[in-house]
Amino acid sequence: MNILILGGGGREHALAWATLQNPKCDKLIVAPGNAGIAQIAECASLNIEDGGAVAEFSSENAIDLVIVGPEAPLAAGVADRLREAGILVFGPSAAAARLEASKSFTKEICAAVDAPTAGYAHFTELAPAKDYIQAQGAPLVVKADGLAAGKGVIIAETTDEALAAVDDMFGGAFGGAGAEVVIEEFMTGEEASFFVLVDGETCLPIGTAQDHKRVGEGDTGLNTGGMGAYSPAPILSDEVAQKALDEIVRPTMAEMARRGMPYQGVLYAGLMIENGQPRLVEYNVRFGDPECQVLMLRLGAQALDLMHACAEGRLDEAKVTWADDHALTVVMAATGYPGTYEKGTEIQGLGDLPEDSFNMMFHAGTKAEDGKVLATGGRVLNATARGATLAEAQQRAYVLVDGTTWPEGFVRRDIGWRAL
Ligand code: AMP
Ligand code: GLY
Repeated sequence: MNILILGGGGREHALAWATLQNPKCDKLIVAPGNAGIAQIAECASLNIEDGGAVAEFSSENAIDLVIVGPEAPLAAGVADRLREAGILVFGPSAAAARLEASKSFTKEICAAVDAPTAGYAHFTELAPAKDYIQAQGAPLVVKADGLAAGKGVIIAETTDEALAAVDDMFGGAFGGAGAEVVIEEFMTGEEASFFVLVDGETCLPIGTAQDHKRVGEGDTGLNTGGMGAYSPAPILSDEVAQKALDEIVRPTMAEMARRGMPYQGVLYAGLMIENGQPRLVEYNVRFGDPECQVLMLRLGAQALDLMHACAEGRLDEAKVTWADDHALTVVMAATGYPGTYEKGTEIQGLGDLPEDSFNMMFHAGTKAEDGKVLATGGRVLNATARGATLAEAQQRAYVLVDGTTWPEGFVRRDIGWRAL
């Protein structure tokens, strides 16, 4: 099989690495890729949000399966264009990708099927949003309706903060994403991520993980795209996962099919769990980054078989085999992230790391120049390791971190603390 992966972050490096473990993969191209991906696969420069260009590139390169990493190409309809061109694709249609691209759409679907989630109201104008905030009182969660790169969510501890948030959103602080606003009840509990493959009909859970969203140790400081993750997440026990599947994921997927927009791809359900009861925080229509890195290290070669079966609508025949293992990833970020940071700084020591099926340094934001590896983004590397216990995986991941020299970077030293 010839495979094209779209994206160039740590998630796509992990997808590429797992794909290459499987002998069914004859040729792998990643667009645009990064310096780490370039060491294992061919990288191509391609506008991955242009469905026509991706379909043309796929035909020219005899691609049999396209795996879409990030949400932007999905929301832009890239999977639709590929299906129209008769090319097999792993990833939902633009209509189904609204589960991530529109928060009010997801809330409405959840309400239609009674899926447990936070109570909410949806506004297209400022005045009624303010009246609602005054009537409800804080704490409240104010969300820009559209895609805002993870920045469109304000947890308002006071009524004044909530009022300021809607002023900002309707004032254009999040551009088009904030033209509509969702205001939610504040949920308490512990968060975890649940990953389920869906082929329009069959829902197949493929793992759980817990992210670390805050930049600082002990979960303090600003929100980020994620500073580390581990899998499995003990809070998402088999019993809680079954509840999430029965009460949240399966009913929403059935409703999507009933409305003529069956979902196909990986569904990432962000859950809030309290007293053994999961409630939906949000859906994402892609793998999490860095959650994908721990899932891929655990799944290895079978990841490709599963994504292929999903794309072909054969999930009813598929099954997942787990080793009794744990995986953990530590994000190495540029000092200053998630604020401003320096670009183009050099990372040394990457060539000497002990990499194998237990230890992998995935690249997120890197480029190769004059034989050096340079940081190009905020989240730059993902030190990822596996072990018989979470403690062992954690110890190995920090060995990878400490094997590199990057004075302009930093890590959280406490990834995994909740489970350990
Ligand atoms: P989202 O982009 O919807 O995942 O929101 C980002 C983060 O905000 C989530 O991961 C939660 O930590 C938090 N959050 C979002 N909605 C709620 C809610 N209704 N109650 C409590 N926390 C929330
Ligand atoms: N790590 C969170 C996300 O990918 O959305």
